[in-house]
Amino acid sequence: MNLVVVSNRVARGKANEPMTGGLAAALLPVVEKSGAIWVGSSGRVRDGHQKEPFAEIEALGAGALALLDLPSAHYGGYYEGFANSALWPALHSRSDLIRASQGDYLSYREVNAFMARALLRFNKPDAAFWVQDYHFLALGAELRDLGVSEPIGFFLHTPWPARSVMEGVPHHRELIEAMLAYDLIGFQTEDDCENFLSYVRENLELPVHGDTVRSRHGRTRATVFPIGIDAEKFAQYAAKSVMHPDVSRLRRSLNGEKLAIGVDRLDYSKGLVNRINAFDQMWTAHPQLARTVSLLQIATPSRGSIEAYGNLQAEVARLVSEVNGRHGEVDWTPIRYLNKGFSQAVLAGLYRTAQVGVVTPLHDGMNLVAKEYVAAQNPVDPGVLVLSKFAGAAKELDAALLVNPHDIDGMARTIGVALSMPATERRMRYDAMMKKLQQQTIQQWFVDFIDALQDNQTSKVAAEPIIAGATSLWPRRAGHSSARYH
Ligand code: F6P
Repeated sequence: MNLVVVSNRVARGKANEPMTGGLAAALLPVVEKSGAIWVGSSGRVRDGHQKEPFAEIEALGAGALALLDLPSAHYGGYYEGFANSALWPALHSRSDLIRASQGDYLSYREVNAFMARALLRFNKPDAAFWVQDYHFLALGAELRDLGVSEPIGFFLHTPWPARSVMEGVPHHRELIEAMLAYDLIGFQTEDDCENFLSYVRENLELPVHGDTVRSRHGRTRATVFPIGIDAEKFAQYAAKSVMHPDVSRLRRSLNGEKLAIGVDRLDYSKGLVNRINAFDQMWTAHPQLARTVSLLQIATPSRGSIEAYGNLQAEVARLVSEVNGRHGEVDWTPIRYLNKGFSQAVLAGLYRTAQVGVVTPLHDGMNLVAKEYVAAQNPVDPGVLVLSKFAGAAKELDAALLVNPHDIDGMARTIGVALSMPATERRMRYDAMMKKLQQQTIQQWFVDFIDALQDNQTSKVAAEPIIAGATSLWPRRAGHSSARYH
């Protein structure tokens, strides 16, 4: 099989370079080994009419990395617009933040179509396409419109919300019906998959039998593939990186004091405000904990030109400064707040230094930081993971201290419990979580999805319209200028 993996963001990083985003960092090692071609955005834009859309094609392990300059006229409407101001808030159940103009939607469609045309270059008889994430919900349908009949799979890295939330996204019917052009759709959790199938059943009124939908595109299977990490590699990084200057400087600066760590993109789904309020509450209720525990919060800036993100950056910075002003001393800072990324190797060492890992998103597809924190611990003296029950990871890491990220008092109390947990209980919880991480690795996730895509293809019947008399929700595109959009 000639596998073509597609995602908006790609990673070229090495272990010692900073990387943004769980998806790219997770995919890099497996794509490198598999020999696949990984196609994504170069991060630059061009006018979109060039004959050769690929700006760069370079070797990546046993495969290749092919980078596209996306069309400049549509990039903003696609990335900051429809993908991150309409789909992202909806997928994270923040209907109040959904903003989308018709222009943004047109741009999203145009970029999906542009990507489909570029992918034709890799459409060989033995090809299979694996599309990643919400940036490309419509890519499968665009590829089918161009005559591609090879297997196409899709994996969503974010949650999938309740029907009523998706109904807040303009053009939701058209987009979700278009997703059925994929042969296989993967979700992080059962809840996400069930929400999707419920939309298909109720809103599209299509027959769903078990995990299979029948539509005018043929059969689509929707099922769960929880993404994992390479726990052994992370553990090795962590053990080695104690010597790294950043890690040893952090250790020295603590003077025996305990440390809690949070590592997130600066995103409203991550629950940063509630987390900082919980620490504030803890130091207020237990002033004796001042000077004995501090928080290192790494928050990598993200999507800064979107209003909701700009507001959040300002709010978190103000809150950190208030809390530090309230509880700080001349020689003690309660919260160290850093707006920059670190390499995975350094992060592993920072995680190992912290007695508590705080991963408290309001909603999260999986959250690989939770898994990485556990994998980085010293097995004989592990730290404790405080984990939101609304992160996909909570389904597997149920030996963490699970919290409701909306309950500030509850989180404050649980952080206190984590800080004073005896070593035997810490080890028991760590062992249980590590066992799961070793079973469900990123390598296994990759293999499971590709195997399911191949099996699905073997059992697939020819596409047959089953909605008698219904017209397609997906308008065929007759050239750029005459495209119709619902
Ligand atoms: O959660 C889905 C995801 O693709 C993550 O893997 C990643 O952290 C983020 O979204 C990507 O964000 P960005 O807009 O920075 O590429």
